[in-house]
Amino acid sequence: MKIKEFTVILLSLLLLVAATCEEARTDISNLEVQPLKTVYEDYFSIGNIINPKYFSSPAHLELLTTHFNTVTCENDMKPDHLAPREKGGAYRWQTADAMVQKMAEHEIKVHGHTLVWHSQTHAWMTEGTPDEVRQNMINHINTVLEHFKGKVNSWDVVNEAITDSASGSVNWKRSLRTESGWHRALGADYIELAFRTARAADPDVLLYYNDYNLNTQSKALAVRNMIKDINDRYKAEGNERNLIDGVGLQGHYNFEVSVSNVRFAIEKFIEIGILIDISELDIEDKQTYGSWGPNKNGGMNSSDMKTQARVYGNLFALFRQYKDHITRVTMWGMDDESNWKSIGNPCLFDGSLNPKPAFFAVSIF
Ligand code: XIL
Repeated sequence: MKIKEFTVILLSLLLLVAATCEEARTDISNLEVQPLKTVYEDYFSIGNIINPKYFSSPAHLELLTTHFNTVTCENDMKPDHLAPREKGGAYRWQTADAMVQKMAEHEIKVHGHTLVWHSQTHAWMTEGTPDEVRQNMINHINTVLEHFKGKVNSWDVVNEAITDSASGSVNWKRSLRTESGWHRALGADYIELAFRTARAADPDVLLYYNDYNLNTQSKALAVRNMIKDINDRYKAEGNERNLIDGVGLQGHYNFEVSVSNVRFAIEKFIEIGILIDISELDIEDKQTYGSWGPNKNGGMNSSDMKTQARVYGNLFALFRQYKDHITRVTMWGMDDESNWKSIGNPCLFDGSLNPKPAFFAVSIF
């Protein structure tokens, strides 16, 4: 046989083997489902959200307790859920307390979300004179941290303070979201005030700054510069630890997310010596902005399933590389039917709670 013919036959055989492997990889029915928390025990904690549905759907609770060892309340610890509707009224702890207790029964850690945010916050909290607003913030942080002392491991103290059009310059204050009621009343100082109040209220809890689109380099740099500036000032006073312990990269992504931009953000935060969490991971198959909400799921085609699996797989491979710095990877939703972006199919489980190719892409490596 001539060399040319031999090469053609060899190449055909290789292609056949590759095609068979590709088929095998897409047939997920025979793959073993391992608890994610076991798969990742040598890497980082692995989390998901909890919401009231978990009390009425045993199947959701079972998936949560099987796969995850840390949770975040999707909405029930936000200011508009805990704080009174009118100034001076009573706090409403019932739902969040039930969640915390249920998680304790299953030895699942709770991450608190969130104390100071421009959204899901009663108007009265940021209205009044600067002194009144400052006091509202201090009261809220003290009340909530006191209530959950010893039950919640870490808190998102400030959420989403930097705008999407942030510049990466060291002057991070120019990149603040000015439509925040907190910013309107107190200016840029509200961020440091929130963290100092939280540190004093509960020195044992880890304090995080949490934001989205940190895969945009200029926004990641603005957040980095803000955290570094606040931590440097705190340490210059003789404190040995950071004031802001860590950053949460929310991770609401789509198929176009650039893994190298996520790496860029991780590296920038490692440089300033803080903990890194992936705090709200979901990867949607289409732009769903403006059509959010559960129960809009129309199913997902197999080509999108494969692409999504590849994107999830690539991101988790990146996270594993940084396991010495990443403490927690939390998914923002269990399944494609009940989650907040159901129309975009962003989860590891489908609408019937079956694992998708994305699940296997992150659990088999
Ligand atoms: C979302 C919840 O998932 C929805 O149920 C709610 O209607 C709006 O908020 N960034 C955050 C989260 O920090 O609190 C948001 O959660 C998603 C974006």
